[in-house]
Amino acid sequence: MQSNLSQVLPDTAVVVDGRLQLAGVDVVDLADRFGTPLIVLDRASLETRAKSYAAALEPARVFYAGKALCCVAVCEMIEALGLSLDVCTGGELETARAAGFPMERVLFHGNNKSVGELEAARDLGVGRIVVDSHDEISRLARVGVTSKLLVRITPGVEAHTHHYIQTGQEDSKFGFTLADGAALDALRRASELRSAGLVGVHAHIGSQIFEMAAFDLAVKRLAVFLREAKDAFAFEPTELNMGGGLGIAYTDDEITPPPADSVQRILAAVEREFSALGLAVPELSLEPGRSLVGSSAITVYKVGTVKRIPGVRTDVAVDGGTSDDSYQKGLPSPEQTDRVYVSVDGGMSDNPRYPLYGAKYQALLANRMNDESTLWTTVAGKHCESGDILIKDVPLPVDVREGDLLCIPATGAYTYSMASNYNRITKPPIVMVEDGKAVEIVRRETLDDVLKLDRRLDGSAL
Ligand SMILES: Cc1ncc(COP(=O)(O)O)c(C=O)c1O
Repeated sequence: MQSNLSQVLPDTAVVVDGRLQLAGVDVVDLADRFGTPLIVLDRASLETRAKSYAAALEPARVFYAGKALCCVAVCEMIEALGLSLDVCTGGELETARAAGFPMERVLFHGNNKSVGELEAARDLGVGRIVVDSHDEISRLARVGVTSKLLVRITPGVEAHTHHYIQTGQEDSKFGFTLADGAALDALRRASELRSAGLVGVHAHIGSQIFEMAAFDLAVKRLAVFLREAKDAFAFEPTELNMGGGLGIAYTDDEITPPPADSVQRILAAVEREFSALGLAVPELSLEPGRSLVGSSAITVYKVGTVKRIPGVRTDVAVDGGTSDDSYQKGLPSPEQTDRVYVSVDGGMSDNPRYPLYGAKYQALLANRMNDESTLWTTVAGKHCESGDILIKDVPLPVDVREGDLLCIPATGAYTYSMASNYNRITKPPIVMVEDGKAVEIVRRETLDDVLKLDRRLDGSAL
């Protein structure tokens, strides 16, 4: 295997006879058995990361952010690991219920929770609700929610990540801002609700964060705010939830520290900042999503059309990078002016991350792992949309061809959970691999599933 790929592949990845195996299962065989596109989830990778988070935060809670990948089997896995679960819609809540997830360990997020969703949370006995707006405080009072409450604060910290996936700035649809006094007001109002009690505050400062100083600053601002709250109406939190956001390696130039190191750093910041202001140190909890499931899965596609256009690639890489920085750093930078489109049998409907925010990935051929990758290609989907790109520039073997099995690593988070039926393409299955065995945990969607929702003009079913 190219050494640079071991960073981005699941922990159990090995190459045997030039073919990729995960958890002792041959990926080419998986593609034959389950078809493509196919998401393969390595249970051991997920469990290792979950256990490392849990051990680092012990005895406080790790809430897996279900939005990253939400299905019954993943909820079952998270429950068996003893972790808690963050849901942010009635749909995710219902998935947790279907998985038999203990509701006391569920935390409910969302900037626009409906009355129906809050009633469901009340009736199911959801453990915690993160209060996001003044309107929601009124709804909580009407519904008579009995959960523990945390108030979501936007601490005005800009995490170093892509603009569209930042949520910690003051200009955000989430939570209460500090500067205009909204946060203090919200804390006071939430403390007066007839609930199981206001236990603390929450902040989520962004996603795919590598710059840990952002967490230090956010914790500091929250401590200053909570000192103010103590002085104003004697409120002291017992819980501080710092959300998710830790980054993972999508490409070989991204080095991720072990989650435990990042957790230690946030714990130290909480201890330092709260003690410095004479406040009791609250229990820190976190909501990792991407850093739990992201690197635990790959997506396998079949290559179809390979199109070469001579001479159109004018932004040729120089010294491993270009002006738009779309090339993977550290890889050979060819004088290649041909654009080579490698089209696969999925695309933006199973992974919209490139069209959404220019996400980067590596790629490899599961059936030819030992072939050198020297041809710069653009991996495209099969949607009727020029923007349907999976990877803008990535090296593949020069003779990449129809029938090759192209794998994109690190697709466990925010791919299937953001999948659509654009162009009436059906969603792929998810297969979990463990100890040489493969189990389908989400079956492939069929066109019947899609058409089942359609009605004729007279309203009749098909
Ligand atoms: C409130 C909240 N918590 C946790 C997460 C999970 O973040 P990540 O997947 O980056 O760890 C998100 C992601 O958007 C979020 O909005």
